[in-house]
Amino acid sequence: MTPEHVENGDRATPRWTREQAARIERTDGTVAPIIYPPREDSVPEINGWDTWFLRNRDGSVATIDGWRVIFSLTAPADLLPGKRHDVAEIRYFYSTDGERWHDGGPVFEGEVRGSRQWAGSALLDDGDLYVFYTASGRAGEADLTYEQRLAVGSGGTVETDGSGLRIDGPFEHEVLLEPDGERYEREEQYRGMIYTFRDPWFFEDPADGETYLLFEANTPIPEGEGVCEDPVWEEFNGSVGIARSPTGDPTDWHLEDPLLEGICVNQELERPHVVVRDGRYYLFVSSHDHTFAPGLDGPDGLYGFVADSLKGKYRPINGSGLVLTNPENAPYQAYSWVAFPHREELLVSGFFNYYDLGGLTLDDVATLPPDEQSKKFGGTLAPTVRVALKGDRTRITGTLSHGRIPLESEELPALSEERLVHREEIRGGYGRY
Ligand code: FRU
Repeated sequence: MTPEHVENGDRATPRWTREQAARIERTDGTVAPIIYPPREDSVPEINGWDTWFLRNRDGSVATIDGWRVIFSLTAPADLLPGKRHDVAEIRYFYSTDGERWHDGGPVFEGEVRGSRQWAGSALLDDGDLYVFYTASGRAGEADLTYEQRLAVGSGGTVETDGSGLRIDGPFEHEVLLEPDGERYEREEQYRGMIYTFRDPWFFEDPADGETYLLFEANTPIPEGEGVCEDPVWEEFNGSVGIARSPTGDPTDWHLEDPLLEGICVNQELERPHVVVRDGRYYLFVSSHDHTFAPGLDGPDGLYGFVADSLKGKYRPINGSGLVLTNPENAPYQAYSWVAFPHREELLVSGFFNYYDLGGLTLDDVATLPPDEQSKKFGGTLAPTVRVALKGDRTRITGTLSHGRIPLESEELPALSEERLVHREEIRGGYGRY
């Protein structure tokens, strides 16, 4: 048994409990349709995975002279997909139709924090660009390390001309936050399978205009204190961390108590982000089947929690937390989802991960010849998933093409038409990265 809440300062940090997670199951409302490769890959030499949008302070997608921008972690496509995290580099892509994304190249040149950059978020604040990212390891290190710090590149410019958009440096880089070892585990404290202090996500609370940075972290669990019923579960200590900027300055952050903890439940609550709808705060994370504690069985999926305020008592959406997952026969087809509002609906963008595995596990994939591994990795954006959201419940209703991020003003096809679109996608797919 894990308590619903644990006292943490004067606020009880809500917990994702084992009882709730034990309810996770694939249902018609939570399983996304099977994904087929896009007909065309406009940047075949690059694999892309975690992706985020350039947004305004209020969270809306920024539009600059009709252009929108997304940022992706990328690696050369001829590198083994399993090795991509070791060389990850942030590139940007821009589009006017939210469907055809043009490659703008790497965002940063020259000195960057970390030996490689992991996921983040991006803010356009009154013309000033802030690219938040995870500095993984240390720049110039001879051997890769897994220390993670939250960093930002600022000072770059975004310019457009008739034919496109350009982001140019120089960027000034700074480390914004490191774990304090009390609320947030430092690398040397962790006893679990995968250490995390990463994925900064900028958020302005519409209720009071306060400015926050959310991130993925782990809660330190002192050994021998019996925090979980089984000490083995204590290695599963994922949390959603938060820091506040007292002035609203996007480079000035102070750590606060975590928003949510998955202690005894799950090690990785990845890429946390919030969507506010009808006064409710929907907090989303991605997580993997292999990061659930023993005795719990959850698929790779988008998990969500809802509360009445940003620092409210989060309860799992759909009772268990599961909002979106892959079909049982294609369990790794997509990952690293980002939910965003579109009119009455929620849209969910993710990346096209390992597919056509014929029952192989990811461990099996790692033993295949390199070209077989590469062939089974999508490395591009997945079809955007449409989700109906009502109170504490969600239901998948259809998909859009690969990587489609419609404008708020765009009306999406009625759902009956949408199903036809989906059939067409099954025949061969369309849309491009
Ligand atoms: C999710 C993730 C992120 C991290 C990135 C590293 O896919 O694990 O949490 O920033 O991948 O490549």
